[in-house]
Amino acid sequence: MYVCVCKAVTDKQIHQAINEGACSRRQLHQCTGAGSVCGKCRNYVTQILDETLQIQPIMQAA
Ligand code: FES
Repeated sequence: MYVCVCKAVTDKQIHQAINEGACSRRQLHQCTGAGSVCGKCRNYVTQILDETLQIQPIMQAA
């Protein structure tokens, strides 16, 4: 699913960038370009980031 329509960034690309080490919205912006045009996707990008970073420590411990 597209998260950022302006830059055609999908949720899979956001998750991939987080798995490769992006840990802030700024880093996701630099890696993917999401949020760099109209900015309407920024809250959703932050939501994905927060949810993913909350889940990953549990997954890594398992
Ligand atoms: S939808 Fe992401 S910058 Fe416009």
